[in-house]
Amino acid sequence: MSVIGFDIGTFAAKAVLLTIKGKGSQRQVTLNGLGMSQMPMGVMSQWEEQPQPARTAMGAAMRSLTKLCKLSAGKFAALSLSGDTMIIKKITMPVTTQKELRKSLSLEAEQYIPYPINDVIIDGHILGVDERHGQMSVLLVAARKEVVFNYIQAIALTKTLKPAVIDVDALALYNSYDFIHPDSRENAILVDIGATMVHVTLLHEGSPHTIKEENIGGQRITDDIEDHFEVTMEEAEAIKLGAMAPPNVVETAEIVDRVVSNWKATLERCLDQVRAEIPEYKPHKILLAGGSSHILGLVEEFQNHFHVRTEIFNPLLYVKYNRKKFDPAYLEYIGPQMAVSFGLAIRKVETT
Ligand SMILES: Nc1ncnc2c1ncn2[C@@H]1O[C@H](COP(=O)(O)OP(=O)(O)OP(=O)(O)O)[C@@H](O)[C@H]1O
Ligand SMILES: [Mg+2]
Repeated sequence: MSVIGFDIGTFAAKAVLLTIKGKGSQRQVTLNGLGMSQMPMGVMSQWEEQPQPARTAMGAAMRSLTKLCKLSAGKFAALSLSGDTMIIKKITMPVTTQKELRKSLSLEAEQYIPYPINDVIIDGHILGVDERHGQMSVLLVAARKEVVFNYIQAIALTKTLKPAVIDVDALALYNSYDFIHPDSRENAILVDIGATMVHVTLLHEGSPHTIKEENIGGQRITDDIEDHFEVTMEEAEAIKLGAMAPPNVVETAEIVDRVVSNWKATLERCLDQVRAEIPEYKPHKILLAGGSSHILGLVEEFQNHFHVRTEIFNPLLYVKYNRKKFDPAYLEYIGPQMAVSFGLAIRKVETT
């Protein structure tokens, strides 16, 4: 059963619907629907203080995207959390099976979570097992029940969608990559740069090893241009996108460079963290996604700085689609921004 992957970002809500038939090398993936709509400014970043407007905006975005993509009613929705709405942490705990993991996790997780354990929903993914010491490393994901409940209520507001999956952005990003390169054993680094966040999902031999999120995205460039040149937000955004001439080219480039340096520093911290555990760790490639990956020269900037092959990650290049329904040039442009929603759209409806 297909689910619609909804990535509700602070800047834009994105939706992807796929049809997946067959398995392994026989698998056929077809793009069925795709859409994006801008979110009201600031609503998603004030989710904690003001849940009601965020819920209403999410519901409205999902409803309009469902219509826009001509997606039929009665579908299932997969959404993802990110940022301060959840905790994601790599922990070490005694060996158990994936089946038993949730039970053991609630006992283990208490010490890592700043909320009462009964107020959170916990999940985990086994990253690696050290048989010799009877220990395993697990990616612990915890979200406050209140936040998940808000998401479910937002889905209910659409009146046509049912909740199927609540994931996290960084793992949806990994799922996109894994779906396209299922047998990859590479040390790939996935970097999604949105409007307010940068997510790094660092893989070791094809599996997620370290996840890092920081609160700095492309909106910072827009804000800095707005402040520096005393222009409106719309003008600042147009300057950033190259749709309007900047008052000063050199100063604009300096503003962009400052923010790009922050993203590189986030990735450096991530690499330091991994190398503390695996000193010989060498990345094979860096894949950039998210709307801000469009920033001119960003690929070269990462490639030259880290001396690692860097590319734009576009999962839509790997699916079939009807050329009468979708414009190839548009899919090529929009694909990197759809990486999280793509990773959600490949999820199955869970029956347990
Ligand atoms: N051509 C472009 N050049 C530079 N920046 C761009 C371009 N196109 C889009 N962006 C920027 O991408 C950002 C939106 O990307 P995206 O949709 O991935 O963010 P989001 O998922 O809504 O945000 P977040 O994940 O941080 O909540 C905006 O800041 C927008 O200005
Ligand atoms: Mg995003």
